[in-house]
Amino acid sequence: MDLPKVYDKVPVKVSVEAGKKYAWCSCGLSDNQPYCNGAHKGTGFAPTVFEATETKDVHLCNCKHTKNPGFCDGAHKSL
Ligand code: FES
Repeated sequence: MDLPKVYDKVPVKVSVEAGKKYAWCSCGLSDNQPYCNGAHKGTGFAPTVFEATETKDVHLCNCKHTKNPGFCDGAHKSL
């Protein structure tokens, strides 16, 4: 299987809370998208953990091809 797996070709809008940490799935295998559920084990991939600096809505990458891990950078448009 080619990784990262494209989970979806559109980003997902989520609410994040200031000071909370989130583990974004980078491999595309998690059943808890856009977050890690441990499915990457053995693949060489690891989640990208980030801490929200403010409480707001963000667009997280679901295609897993962003160059700004965790966040949609428009890369899904060329898949
Ligand atoms: S969903 Fe991956 S770059 Fe937009």
